[in-house]
Amino acid sequence: MRYRRFGRLGWRVGEVGLGGAWLGGRRNEVPIDAAAETVRTALELGVNYIDTAPVYGNYYSERIIGHALEGWRKEVFIATKVGRLPDGFDYSKDRVWRSFEGSLKRLRRDHVDLLQIHESEVAGWEGIFGRGKALEAMKEMRDQGLVRGIGITGADLDLLARAVETGEFDSVLTYNKYDLVTQEAKHKLVPLAQEHDVAVILGSPLHMGLLGDRKEELLRERPSYVTENMVRKLDRLEEVAKEFGDSLAQLALRYLLSDPRVSVVIPATHRPERVAENVAVSEGPRLPEELVRKIESF
Ligand SMILES: NC(=O)c1ccc[n+]([C@@H]2O[C@H](COP(=O)([O-])OP(=O)(O)OC[C@H]3O[C@@H](n4cnc5c(N)ncnc54)[C@H](OP(=O)(O)O)[C@@H]3O)[C@@H](O)[C@H]2O)c1
Repeated sequence: MRYRRFGRLGWRVGEVGLGGAWLGGRRNEVPIDAAAETVRTALELGVNYIDTAPVYGNYYSERIIGHALEGWRKEVFIATKVGRLPDGFDYSKDRVWRSFEGSLKRLRRDHVDLLQIHESEVAGWEGIFGRGKALEAMKEMRDQGLVRGIGITGADLDLLARAVETGEFDSVLTYNKYDLVTQEAKHKLVPLAQEHDVAVILGSPLHMGLLGDRKEELLRERPSYVTENMVRKLDRLEEVAKEFGDSLAQLALRYLLSDPRVSVVIPATHRPERVAENVAVSEGPRLPEELVRKIESF
């Protein structure tokens, strides 16, 4: 595993992290010991950054991670979120505090490394920065040593850019905005984050599975985040992957890791063998610049 500096927090983070959304499977069908095995495998392979949220698996993801970390002594950075709960969205200071306290219990920790605002576009500016709203609570937590860094997540790049410019956030996470089939955030958000020394976390690096195991399912269902233009690129991307000796999923990670401004990519999986495939990308070669340009020209 290669490690990168995590923005101004200065942490040394494995460039392939673990996304926690589906640790328990799509319907929480994976028993907790088996799910914890995926986390343990990741840790043993050098992953030291795990992303989760209360809403993932209806609190199950945080419980799995708490279970998996029992007895693990090496440094690991745990990132969770506030504002989105299984029963809906709430960015009020009170609810953010309660949500966070629940996360600490499920994760079985006395602090969280990174606490992020979940889906900032739902919070809106007021829900983030208003009096008695999320950020106020998060800063109290940081002052009390319960949280080390504060981050923001979302898919509205303009809102994220404005938030980064306030200097309040240590990290920014976006998803489905920078991957093999779309590069919007590469030009809009990443340069700004670098300017402010804010860590860049790429969620959904496989475009929510379009570039991995869920390809056929998503081609059938065609959710709004899978556009015609993206679908048109897939055959050519498969060809590049084959030439390079990668699976499409591995090419997707290798492509993102060719950008040194990216702090960590966090593919999600509930299979230990997938974790190994994903980590292997970090150990292999980078994509040559001309191949990056070719991919972006599709
Ligand atoms: N607002 C936010 O904060 C936000 C939003 C989106 C995402 N995220 C974070 O980003 C993480 C990842 O996003 P995501 O779950 O949307 O999507 P993703 O990582 O782009 O794709 C996950 C899918 O890809 C499959 N996969 C993983 N590794 C693979 C491989 N090597 N080969 C083939 N298929 C592979 C997984 O299937 P299997 O499980 O069957 O392996 C899963 O179906 C989330 O867990 C979350 O932590 C955060």
